[in-house]
Amino acid sequence: MAQDPKYDLPTYTPVARGLHWWIALLVLIQLPLGFYMAYRGNEMPGVNENGEPVKGVWDALTGTLYSSHKVIGLTILLFVVLRLLYRLTQGAPRSDPTVPPALTGVSHLVHWLLYALLIAVPVIGYTAISYGDYLDVFGVHLPAITEKNEDRAKEIFEWHETGAVLIVIFATIHIAAAVYHHFVRKDRVVERMIPKRANG
Ligand code: HEM
Ligand code: HEM
Repeated sequence: MAQDPKYDLPTYTPVARGLHWWIALLVLIQLPLGFYMAYRGNEMPGVNENGEPVKGVWDALTGTLYSSHKVIGLTILLFVVLRLLYRLTQGAPRSDPTVPPALTGVSHLVHWLLYALLIAVPVIGYTAISYGDYLDVFGVHLPAITEKNEDRAKEIFEWHETGAVLIVIFATIHIAAAVYHHFVRKDRVVERMIPKRANG
């Protein structure tokens, strides 16, 4: 049978779903990558040329992790801008009618906060690498958008970290909500993003 006859359910379009899942996958890679590479570059015990112990290891792997983080971060920014333009022009399917309006309101708030953070965090990251002149990505020099100022770069990296922690918090709430809808409330909210096959 095609659809659960319980109630009609409009789903997100394939374009909206494709962008959602690409963004989700990239964000779930980007966060641990960011924390690990920052630990490796700033905290991990290493040795300098004279064999003295130092904090932070700057080898080829650290460089590759930093370059990958910048590429993935800019890709997330591009996908989120496309997703937002699509969302603002095409809208979203109407909400699951069985969910209490207050809960729908909270979920919309979390969605818009995630959009705001997914734009702000990469823009802040780019601003920080511009101030610090850490613009190298796999040997390619990205364009600077500010003058060089190391102190300012340090301060802006703090905002970048705070923004990333806020993404962790709101994405966790978001994923916990999906689990709650699917396994506890047993409604059809998750099917809006993962439709059942029409004749499966
Ligand atoms: C949604 C996109 C992004 C997320 C979720 C993200 C997340 C993170 C996280 C979790 C950290 C580690 C924070 C810490 O422990 O200090 C970090 C650090 C960093 N991010 Fe991002 N980031 C994103 C985009 C970008 C972009 C677009 C750039 C630059 C083009 C960038 C450049 C950096 C750099 C250079 C660091 C290292 C800072 C340090 O060594 O102290 N990030 N990011
Ligand atoms: C396992 C992980 C995830 C699941 C199961 C999931 C599931 C869903 C579902 C079911 C919706 C539709 C909600 C509704 O109809 O009200 C949705 C929307 C959304 N998700 Fe996720 N999601 C996941 C990961 C993520 C991640 C990591 C992000 C970004 C950090 C994200 C950002 C969003 C946003 C911004 C929307 C709103 C879409 C719109 O209406 O424009 N999701 N997600």
